[in-house]
Amino acid sequence: MYYIGIDLGTSAVKLLLMDQDGRIQKIVSKEYPLYFPHPGWSEQNPSDWYEKTIEGIQELTEGVDRTKVSGISFGGQMHGLVALDAEDHILRPAILWNDGRTQEETDDLNNTVGKETLSRCTANIAFAGFTAPKILWMKKHEPELFEKIAKIMLPKDYLAYRLSGTFCTDYSDASGMLLLDVEHKCWSEEMINICGIRRDQLPTLYESFEVVGTLHPHLADQLGLPKDVKIVAGAGDNAAAAVGTGTIGDGKCNLSLGTSGTIFISSGQFGVDNYNALHSFAHADGHYHLMGCMLSAASCNKWWMDEILKTGDYAGEQQGISSLGENQVYFLPYLMGERSPHNDPSARAAFLGMSMDTTRESMTQAVLEGVAYALRDSLEVAKSLGLTIPRTTICGGGAKSPLWKRIIANVMNLKVDIVETEEGPGYGAAILAAVGCGAYGSLDEAVTKLVHVVETIEPEPELVEKYEKGYQKFRQYYPALKGLF
Ligand code: XUL
Repeated sequence: MYYIGIDLGTSAVKLLLMDQDGRIQKIVSKEYPLYFPHPGWSEQNPSDWYEKTIEGIQELTEGVDRTKVSGISFGGQMHGLVALDAEDHILRPAILWNDGRTQEETDDLNNTVGKETLSRCTANIAFAGFTAPKILWMKKHEPELFEKIAKIMLPKDYLAYRLSGTFCTDYSDASGMLLLDVEHKCWSEEMINICGIRRDQLPTLYESFEVVGTLHPHLADQLGLPKDVKIVAGAGDNAAAAVGTGTIGDGKCNLSLGTSGTIFISSGQFGVDNYNALHSFAHADGHYHLMGCMLSAASCNKWWMDEILKTGDYAGEQQGISSLGENQVYFLPYLMGERSPHNDPSARAAFLGMSMDTTRESMTQAVLEGVAYALRDSLEVAKSLGLTIPRTTICGGGAKSPLWKRIIANVMNLKVDIVETEEGPGYGAAILAAVGCGAYGSLDEAVTKLVHVVETIEPEPELVEKYEKGYQKFRQYYPALKGLF
C-alpha cells in the first residue's frame, strides 16, 4: 500500500509517496507565489495551493501502481486565515502565519480582553500571526467581506475540504487559531463571541490520525486513484514534523529550520507557563506540546543568498567559513518581525559589528548564527520553565547544511540527532495517513517502527563556551534596538 504525505509549505507544496514499510518512493515539489502587498503583510492564494497539489499528486503517482494508494494526509503551514462564502468562493487571499498586519487587534486582545482571559480560554495569548486577530482585522477593515464569511479554515484544511468535501480541522492546527480551548479540545464559546463569529463557521475537530472522509469520486477518476482513498485529518506542519522525527510522547524536542524556525517540545500532559511565553498547543499524537516559533529562519539565509549575494550556491558560500565561535558580526533575524519570544511585528533585521576587515563569509556566518541564537532565545524560555532538554532532532531545508547543524548544536548546547528521513512534515503526514488507514495499531507503533536516528552531532565544549559569550552579547541587541524599529 502507498500513503501520500502533503507538506503545504509557504514557498511550495511538497508531496511524498511512502510505502507501507515507511520507505519514501518519490518526492515532488511544486512552488507557488507568496505576496507581500504591504511591508510586513504576507498572503497566498488558496487556489494555487489546490492546483499545485493536484498537479503534484498526478506527478507523484506517475509510473506507480495507483490502485495501491490508500490514504492521504497533510502537514500544513499554520494559523493562515482562509475565508469562504456560502457558495465556497474564496473571499480574499489567505492571510498567512508570518503576516504582521494585526498589531492593533493583537494589542487589543492582549490588553483589553486581557492575557488572563485569553490564556484561560485558549491556553495562549494573542500573537500577530494567530488566526483570531486576523478575523478581527477582516471585521474592521473588510466588513462587507467579513459579513459574507460562511467557513473559516486553516490552509491544509482547505485542501482536505477540496479533496473530500469535509469541513474539518485537527487539534494541533486548531490550537494556533486562538479559538480552541486547548486543554479541553473544544472550541471556546467565549472566543467565538469575542471575535463576533458563529460556531457553524468553524470546522469539525478531529485527532490528526482520524479519517475525515474519502477522495471525491470525480477527483479519484481524474487522478486515476481508487474511489476509497481515505483523507486523514493531518496536523499543523510543526506537529507533523514532530511525528516525522519521532518527537511524540513526553519531553522530546525537535527543531525545524524551515521558512520559520521552531523549537517543539512534546508533552504527555497539558501545561502552560505563567507568561504564555511559549505556545501551548495540542499535539498530533493526541497529547500536547510547547513551542517557540521564530518567523524567519532558513528564509534569512535564502534572502541573503538569493536577494543580496545573488547566488544559488548555498554550500559553496558556506565553504569558506572556518572561524566558528569567533565572529564579530551579528545578525538579528527579524526580517518579518518576530514571534517568540519577543512578540513584536515591528522588529526588523540588522547586521551589527562590522569593520573594514568584515568579509562576505563572516556575514553569511552571522546569518546562520543569528538564527541559532534566536532559536536559543526560545530554548532559554523552556529551560526557565524547569524543562530539561539534553537533545533534539532537526528537520527543514536549513538542516541540509552540516555547518548550520554544527552551529546549532554548539549555540544551543544540545546533542542533535539526525533521523534517517529528514522530510519532517511530509513524512509525518504520510505516517498519519498510514495510521489513519489502519496500517499500524497506533501512532506510537508507527513511529517506533519507522523513525530511526542515524547520527548524532555532539556539542564541542570549546565552541559551546565561545558561543555562550556570543549569545550573551546577541541577547542584548534586541532590547537596545527595540525602540528604534
Ligand atoms: C508555527 C508557525 C510556523 C508555520 C510555518 O506557529 O507559525 O511554523 O506553521 O509553516
